[in-house]
Amino acid sequence: MLQEISLASSFILPGSSLSVNRMGYGAMQLAGRDGNKLVWGPPRDVDGAITLLREVVASGVNHIDTSDFYGPHVTNQLIRRALFPYPDDLVIVTKVGTRRGEDGSWIPAFSPDELTGAIHDNLRNLGLDVLDVVNLRSMFSVHQPAEGSIEAPLTALAELQQKGLIRHIGLSNVTPTQIAEARRIVPIVCVQNHYNLAHRADDALIADLAHDGIAYVPFFPLGGFTPLQSGTLSEAASRLGATPMQVALAWLLQRSPNILVIPGTSSLQHLRENLKAAALQIPAEVHDDLETVSRPDAASHPTRQL
Ligand SMILES: NC(=O)c1ccc[n+]([C@@H]2O[C@H](COP(=O)([O-])OP(=O)(O)OC[C@H]3O[C@@H](n4cnc5c(N)ncnc54)[C@H](OP(=O)(O)O)[C@@H]3O)[C@@H](O)[C@H]2O)c1
Repeated sequence: MLQEISLASSFILPGSSLSVNRMGYGAMQLAGRDGNKLVWGPPRDVDGAITLLREVVASGVNHIDTSDFYGPHVTNQLIRRALFPYPDDLVIVTKVGTRRGEDGSWIPAFSPDELTGAIHDNLRNLGLDVLDVVNLRSMFSVHQPAEGSIEAPLTALAELQQKGLIRHIGLSNVTPTQIAEARRIVPIVCVQNHYNLAHRADDALIADLAHDGIAYVPFFPLGGFTPLQSGTLSEAASRLGATPMQVALAWLLQRSPNILVIPGTSSLQHLRENLKAAALQIPAEVHDDLETVSRPDAASHPTRQL
């Protein structure tokens, strides 16, 4: 079932000249860890991280997701060290709206000063004069979208866009109401929310965004820090001669044409495995089985996101 790598089809971000392959890469896992502080400090193997980033781009991936609060600063500095000067077609998507506490916590950072500082941190650490896409990461709740107006921070971001520091704006961890509010203020090119085979709260939202040509970029596409585990997924993988992670990614790519995937890994072997998912076709009967993974009654084949 695995064919030669295609990196899936491409997608043009709406109202832009930015075209990306639908198989991208999420850079968060490249930062290190310090005890309970996740995504903190440098990786144990800096050279390995640089090699991995170069292979990401050499493989044809032209969409890298990052933030200056990964590390903090570390991930962007690795990207710059590995890839600068950047290939013309590389689209680096970053995000603002959070800063890191000394204890590794994720603290809302929505004031105009904090947003301006975050944009300049991203520009400096990536070595850019302008950022292709910046997502405003909502923080009314750290772990899932929660209602609340994002008008003030988005207006501040739109002003930075008008100053020429940002080309396009996206949103992260948001509700449909917040997306509608945002679109009255500024064009939105992408939405990045938690979504995967087992976590499907955004099924309807994905269809609505597809209708308007807006990209949906699931974060934790493989389940995040504790990757997906499901008997149904494993069975599907063995039927297809693939790995469970490849099936999880191929399922996302088949789920809707506006889905762009950004699986994260610090492992070269996992990167190579994940990229091959772009060429994996899931037949209808296997697809039907996979539909059961998110159902609470899938007791015989539990899915765990620990
Ligand atoms: N907007 C937001 O709030 C937000 C939140 C979280 C993440 N993100 C973005 O989304 C991207 C993706 O999310 P993520 O990296 O947190 O989670 P993910 O892609 O769902 O999963 C990453 C985890 O899966 C493991 N993994 C990757 N490929 C694997 C494979 N083939 N086999 C087995 N394990 C594998 C990784 O470990 P190894 O390193 O060992 O491979 C890592 O533990 C991030 O990199 C970040 O850019 C955004």
